[in-house]
Amino acid sequence: MCGIVGYIGKKEKLTKILSCLENLEYRGYDSSGIAYLKDNQINIVKKKGRISNLKDNLEESETTLAITHTRWATHGEPSDNNAHPHKIDKVTIVHNGIIENYLELKDKLQELGIKFKTETDTEVAAALLNKLYNDKKDVFEAILAFQKIARGSYAIGMLIEGDNNLYAIKKDSPLIIALAKDGYFIASDVPAILKETNRYITLEDLEFAKITENSLTVYNQNLETINYEVKVFESGVEQIDKGDFEHFMLKEIHEEDTVVKNTFNYYLEHLDEIPDITSYKKVEIISCGSAYNVGLLGKNLIEKYLDIPVNVQLASEYRYQKQFTNKDTLVIAISQSGETADTLAAVKLANKKGAKTLGIVNVKESSIARETSQVLYTKAGIEVAVATTKAYLSQLVVLIMLVYKSKKIRKELAEEEQLLNEIKELPKMIKELIERKDYYKIAESIYKNDDMYFIGRGIDYYIALEASLKMKEISYIHSESYAAGELKHGTISLIEENTPVIGVISNEDILEKTMSNIKETKSRGANITIITTEEITKSLDSDTNLIVVPKVNDLIEPILMIIPFQLLAYETAKLRGCDIDKPRNLAKSVTVE
Ligand code: F6R
Repeated sequence: MCGIVGYIGKKEKLTKILSCLENLEYRGYDSSGIAYLKDNQINIVKKKGRISNLKDNLEESETTLAITHTRWATHGEPSDNNAHPHKIDKVTIVHNGIIENYLELKDKLQELGIKFKTETDTEVAAALLNKLYNDKKDVFEAILAFQKIARGSYAIGMLIEGDNNLYAIKKDSPLIIALAKDGYFIASDVPAILKETNRYITLEDLEFAKITENSLTVYNQNLETINYEVKVFESGVEQIDKGDFEHFMLKEIHEEDTVVKNTFNYYLEHLDEIPDITSYKKVEIISCGSAYNVGLLGKNLIEKYLDIPVNVQLASEYRYQKQFTNKDTLVIAISQSGETADTLAAVKLANKKGAKTLGIVNVKESSIARETSQVLYTKAGIEVAVATTKAYLSQLVVLIMLVYKSKKIRKELAEEEQLLNEIKELPKMIKELIERKDYYKIAESIYKNDDMYFIGRGIDYYIALEASLKMKEISYIHSESYAAGELKHGTISLIEENTPVIGVISNEDILEKTMSNIKETKSRGANITIITTEEITKSLDSDTNLIVVPKVNDLIEPILMIIPFQLLAYETAKLRGCDIDKPRNLAKSVTVE
């Protein structure tokens, strides 16, 4: 996690450089800091809290050289002191990643008399770089030696006293260098620099760069210069602007009709890019959080429509379980950011086992996109809110298209024309669902509770899992999702007068059974809401809180079912006054294991 922005050039306002950093707050936001050159001196200001707090404590000034950092604490609590940059003697750095052998290094450096002021691994990296620089009297040699000694992951922006250049060092954490009009920026991710330029290069692992006011040189481990390719980021700057919306999350939900349309259209027009999964004996899906939940929906659809067994695994557990992955397995890694450390590590292991790996990824050229044997990009655009909405839906669309393609190859798409017509109608239905007002009323009836439950059967259970995650992560209401039939095996003891229970019923086949489970909770005082489809409402009690979703082909129904839950979580979090786009303790790109 953590975000880095550095600048070198003719001159730039400190506030402007920090505004670039603010676009990386999704990577962490518990403290931030800046080191900048003024009157040939490196000044450092660090503050606990959001970047806005740092800005409030900073002089209005300009600089030709700066490094900045927004932190998601790993080693040491969030505090002014532990915030980056860290300076040891001549070397000042900001760092994203983890130096895994930092304790061992710290001991050795302490034996040499170096005093540490923080609990961070980054201060150890700064001390090591400084020692190597003092020993070798050469920055490049110091960097090369550092890369041999430091284990773990790092994207580092470095300043050296008296040197006045900007250095960028990378291994296993993303780092780009952007080419702006009057200088260069380094950054953890493209959104940071979009307001300045859309031209950038990507540093590869173990490469490093020396950047001056008007030159950029990239080196490999042999100190050979690299011919880099300048890329142009296609999406517009409006992606990182809230526009008239109160929150990014709401804006991104309002983009879902377009995202679903774009993802379907792209893959319907490029069916040849989608692999035929029927040629594999089994499928494994690896992912985390919401991407895990969507993987479960994928399992249900692939097993139901293609008769191929699918095993969905939490990426963080994959390496610690017995694996049956082999060359006959298709391993699908789902990740919005493409940088999730657990998913990336699982992909590397699956590759080693000879499996074909398929990434379903939103961020182009991210680590997972590059590590998988094939990638299907989702067409969600930049997602800023920490809680995923539109990216989750676009992942679901790609999973549906995997099923569609294989059914088509098997010539089993009996109602293809009708399905395609419904896919065409989906954006309109999504728009209507989003514009409804009934979520607020239900949110009002639950927002004062401390606990709540989501229940569903079959595929509805997987929808309940995502619904519950969305609710708890942004509203901080303790929420659990249960397979509807499982509640009575223990958890029903938690149902009290007015405990909210939200039932998901998307299919008539399981209506009666799930209704019985819902009624069991109602008899114990639960405040019931049911989210269901048009055709089912006819058989429900008239006094139930209902959110009704249009009925479409079962293959695409989950797309519509999830939207009310996203809005319900949003309205509930808003009533509770939560920081919706940046929930406490979270970060969007989880680059630590
Ligand atoms: C929840 C959420 C997370 C992510 C998870 C995986 O709203 O966004 O649970 O789904 O951290 O992230 P990616 O998809 O980037 O691998």
